[in-house]
Amino acid sequence: MQLLDGKSLSTKLKTHIKTEVDSLTSTGKRAPHLVAILIGANPASETYVAAKIKSCEEVGFQSTLYRYDASITEAELLQKINEINADSSIDGLLVQLPLPKHINETKVVETVDYRKDVDGFHPTNIGRMAKGLPCTLPATPYGILKLLEEYKIETAGKHCVVIGRSHIVGSPMSILMARNDYPGNATVTICHSKTKDLSSFTRNADIIIAAVGIPQMLKADMVKDGVVIVDVGTNRIEDATKKSGFRLVGDVDFDSVKDKCSYISPVPGGVGPMTIAALLLNTLDTYKRGE
Ligand code: GUN
Repeated sequence: MQLLDGKSLSTKLKTHIKTEVDSLTSTGKRAPHLVAILIGANPASETYVAAKIKSCEEVGFQSTLYRYDASITEAELLQKINEINADSSIDGLLVQLPLPKHINETKVVETVDYRKDVDGFHPTNIGRMAKGLPCTLPATPYGILKLLEEYKIETAGKHCVVIGRSHIVGSPMSILMARNDYPGNATVTICHSKTKDLSSFTRNADIIIAAVGIPQMLKADMVKDGVVIVDVGTNRIEDATKKSGFRLVGDVDFDSVKDKCSYISPVPGGVGPMTIAALLLNTLDTYKRGE
């Protein structure tokens, strides 16, 4: 078994990004600028956004964080997004999800200018991705592609089972794994909460991408020998031995499954850091397109 080490790959990618930013700024150009909007006090969102801002600093990006109370109105939020859209000194904008219930997520995602949509959530980017046109890819799927590429995982003709159909991960991941490119050209099955007999699919999978948000759901008897597993889950479970009172586990029961895998991504240290690296790559790209 070999680990798909997202932490070390993200460090390598960040070093490349920093070198590029340093050479841009040394010629008098401004640094790429990412804006994050965080609403309310969701502890997981707080952690993710803090990590994104910290990574911006590491690579020499400018970053701005706007924090709002959960009581912000939808109109106020949309107005702020429109202001940022109009600001030519800002290259990327992300609004951390989930949003409070009174704010329409679709409206928010569609209001972000697709050219600054470094999450790759805007329908223009999703549509262009589905057509195989140049676009900003959703950050987590893009990070997973980079991870598969780094470890030269064969994907053509393989049976890839994606567990989960979210707009953020499962759905785009299934499109990307089936596209005529590398990584891709896989035969893709999408499983979800209404799938009957999940094991009958996962036991026949060469590659499993687990993105359902159910702690340690994928067990050893559900996979075949030699499988490649990408674990997207970042579930907090209680752990009294930790100062925080919790620890992170994936959607995969890592300890029991790992010995059957040819490759498996750990949690933490797998997909999480790759999402952030992909976000930085997307921001650098939108910056370059705006030049
Ligand atoms: N919530 C969970 N994952 C993400 C992500 O990749 N981007 C944003 N904006 N919100 C999220």
